[in-house]
Amino acid sequence: MSQFDIIHKDAAGRIGKLTTPHGVVETPTVMPVINPNIQTIKPSEMKDFGAEILITNSYIIYRKDELREKALKDGLHALLDYDGPIMTDSGSFQLSVYGEVEVTNQEIINFQQKIGTDIGVPLDIPTHPDVTYEKAKEDMDITIERLKEARGLVKEGGMLLAGPVQGATYKDLREDCARELSDVGFDVYPFGAVVPLMEAYRYSDLVDVIASAKKGLDPVAPVHLFGAGHPMMFALAVALGCDLFDSAAYALYAKDRRYITSRGTYHIDKLKYLPCSCPVCMAHTAEELKKAHNCTELLARHNLYVTFEEMREVKQAIWEGNLLELVEQRCRSHPRMLEALKQMTNYSSWLEECDPSSKSTFFYCGPESAKRPEVLRFTKQLERLTIKGSVLIRPYPTKKDKEYDNVMVFKAPFGSYPQDLAEVYPFNAEVVRTPDYESLETAFLNTIKLIELNPEATYTFLMRESFVHPLVEKLSKMDNVTVVPPKSE
Ligand code: GUN
Ligand code: ZN
Repeated sequence: MSQFDIIHKDAAGRIGKLTTPHGVVETPTVMPVINPNIQTIKPSEMKDFGAEILITNSYIIYRKDELREKALKDGLHALLDYDGPIMTDSGSFQLSVYGEVEVTNQEIINFQQKIGTDIGVPLDIPTHPDVTYEKAKEDMDITIERLKEARGLVKEGGMLLAGPVQGATYKDLREDCARELSDVGFDVYPFGAVVPLMEAYRYSDLVDVIASAKKGLDPVAPVHLFGAGHPMMFALAVALGCDLFDSAAYALYAKDRRYITSRGTYHIDKLKYLPCSCPVCMAHTAEELKKAHNCTELLARHNLYVTFEEMREVKQAIWEGNLLELVEQRCRSHPRMLEALKQMTNYSSWLEECDPSSKSTFFYCGPESAKRPEVLRFTKQLERLTIKGSVLIRPYPTKKDKEYDNVMVFKAPFGSYPQDLAEVYPFNAEVVRTPDYESLETAFLNTIKLIELNPEATYTFLMRESFVHPLVEKLSKMDNVTVVPPKSE
């Protein structure tokens, strides 16, 4: 098992330290993909952008005599002229594109070991989404066999070995696969075959794949999201527990004249202004960049800068404990990302188990905040509250507070909680003063649950003009509840 030390957490995201033969890598991070044949940006320069680990393809090296001989003679690090950690992929991606490769699992694993890779990958089968269940299971079983074979070939202590989780879009297969691989024991767990999902903007399916596979793994195992390099989805994937990413996107997008930002992608020919402050964007106007003879290289550089910038933003958010706020903001850049955010709320119960119980102030960012793990945690904890006597539930302090045995604060999206907790996380949340439908829904449902759990007490509920929701009527019909309508505010 690899040495992976988690030093900070937020939701299922974490800052970790992964030890490899060529040094320690701080995660989450993105591995720039290096093409062993052509390099517009040299591997030795990658550290200047913030890279801590690179990824290249051992099959491309293996296939080409000149590269293979040099790698076998001088090692992978000399071949790329890079002394930090390097991960190598097998020929699996070529397998998924061309249908076959001229190498066996055993050959490519031995080759990766011989050239001194830091993290090696067996020849897994990236199963396309939407194949039949039977086909996905068949591919997955072959993948598991090959991974077990690889585990037998690689002794612990040297090259780290990755165990890619497959299973297409079948949640139970992803979870089973992860669990089985976990029992064998790998150093890093890539989630495979997600590129077609991302290419088709199927981010909601991606959320299902990540959450299902994570459920089958030990929570402290390092996870790599294979082929994910667009910064727009880093916050979301990190919050779901992904630690490593790889970006060929910086170079591929540049080749298509595309300019990456954390909100999406622009075609360079449509840019009138350059919104970024990286060295490329500060040295050029949009017009100059379009016309530059080395436009592809300049775009690749800009793309790398913003990729690492976003990763630092994500890490800072974990550090501060506001990663979920960043996720909500980023997921508003594209409607398909918004679908993914909504899908993520279906996993709040799981996220709640991972989430630290106290962090920085909860900021309400929109309807999805009403389903955040912190809110769900309060719903689960309602059973622990025992309330007797007369209770005033009110949104703000009143002169009548003293007349009641208990005073509870009503604050959406949480609901009603004892006044003593008002300054305690997460009830010290910053919320909007005119709560939306979704946050009132959660808050009223929690309040009704609390009243039902404590039926002996009598409740006076001070309403506010802005608390417009059908559940107010349900509350007012409860025997032990008096709803006081709002005075005009
Ligand atoms: N690159 C992108 N997806 C995959 C995958 O599923 N497996 C491997 N080995 N490489 C990939
Ligand atoms: Zn830039």
